[in-house]
Amino acid sequence: MAFQTIKGTHDILPEDSTRWQELERIIHDVAARFGYSEIRTPIFEDTRLFSRSVGEDTDIVSKEMYTWEDRSGGSLTLRPELTAPVVRAYIQHSLGRKSPLQRLYYMGPLFRRERPQKGRQRQFHQFGIEAFGSEYPEQDAEIIAVGHTIFSELGLKDVTLKLNSLGSGECRSYYKKALQDYFNPLKDQLSETSQKRLETNPLRILDTKNPEEHKLLAGAPSISDFWSEDDQKHFSHVQDLLSSLDIPFELDSRMVRGLDYYTRTTFEFISSNLGAQDAVCGGGRYDKLVETLGGKPTPAIGFAAGMERILMSMDSYGKSVKGNLVYVINLVESASGKALQIANEIRELGFAVTLDTLRRSLKAQLRDANKMGAGKVVIMGEEEINNQTLQIKDLTTGKQEEIAESDLVKHFTV
Ligand code: HAM
Repeated sequence: MAFQTIKGTHDILPEDSTRWQELERIIHDVAARFGYSEIRTPIFEDTRLFSRSVGEDTDIVSKEMYTWEDRSGGSLTLRPELTAPVVRAYIQHSLGRKSPLQRLYYMGPLFRRERPQKGRQRQFHQFGIEAFGSEYPEQDAEIIAVGHTIFSELGLKDVTLKLNSLGSGECRSYYKKALQDYFNPLKDQLSETSQKRLETNPLRILDTKNPEEHKLLAGAPSISDFWSEDDQKHFSHVQDLLSSLDIPFELDSRMVRGLDYYTRTTFEFISSNLGAQDAVCGGGRYDKLVETLGGKPTPAIGFAAGMERILMSMDSYGKSVKGNLVYVINLVESASGKALQIANEIRELGFAVTLDTLRRSLKAQLRDANKMGAGKVVIMGEEEINNQTLQIKDLTTGKQEEIAESDLVKHFTV
């Protein structure tokens, strides 16, 4: 008998492995330019890690996990996603104590027992990033900017960013209840799957591909009716920042994610040349997850992208990191969009750039820049912003000079 790969799994042969290596190189490179460090966690974990975080009633936990009883009695699971393992590691190794802002990324195989089809395997690979510690919209914008940068550097065509907010606090449970109230009288018109979801996870009904059900969705309540004032403020600030970074997006109040841990901002990058499995990337905030898994309350946000799907829809490669780290210090809250923009302009030139999203003092940020071994610091205070100038401090020589904002590119290219 000749053995074959198991259904839904694939070999990566020598003729393809060069493309994989190149993709991995670009991911390492962009992650480094945004100041993210790699974390690697085990392939299997305690089953409860996933049921408590992703959620008992999600498709992933209820029917897609590869789970077995260990000889010593516990239940183990091949990781179906990587956010929960990264949160576990963050808590286990007290990473929050090492630095109030942890920026992490990862790459590796995952396992979900789904029905295989184009763009959907049972063993697949993800690249993902997670930022712990900042509750502010500039962190949301930075995370989305990393995805945007990677996809544009990879030459991914026809990618659309879809954006939503699932609100915080009780918002989601009120919305669940409102959806149940709306769909219950229409139950007979729902498919068997949606009828089941109505009991367990009504938000997933919004994900239906059934055209008949789509008609019913038109009258369903929208999550935006349940946002608090702070949710609303946070979300519109995220949108303003994305606009100032020239990252186009579409609002989609019907977009729900297949995992239960999200709060506030959620997003997906959708590619129009992938067919039915069109999400190259999905992510969002999960401000309650660290606490749920036994850590100190810590806001966090991240995303993961399917590497097979990226390879299916790309056709060119980008550039690599040069020079040493540049640290952008912005001291004016209302200029956070501009600071993100300036950081991106310098990254465009090939430099690694980091930016504080904790709104710390000048002294604290300078200390951080020194600790990280930055070569140069760009400082934006009230006066600089009013005069459209920037202070550039060379940390090796200690010399500081003022330049016109319009000379930024010139300064970093000579
Ligand atoms: P997810 O939406 O379940 O999110 O997966 C993210 C991406 O992984 C999808 O957009 C898709 O590209 C890829 N993917 C998922 N399942 C498969 C499959 N069976 N075959 C091929 N590709 C697949 C998460 O996993 C979250 N942990 C993302 C996250 C990170 N949220 C916050 N931080």
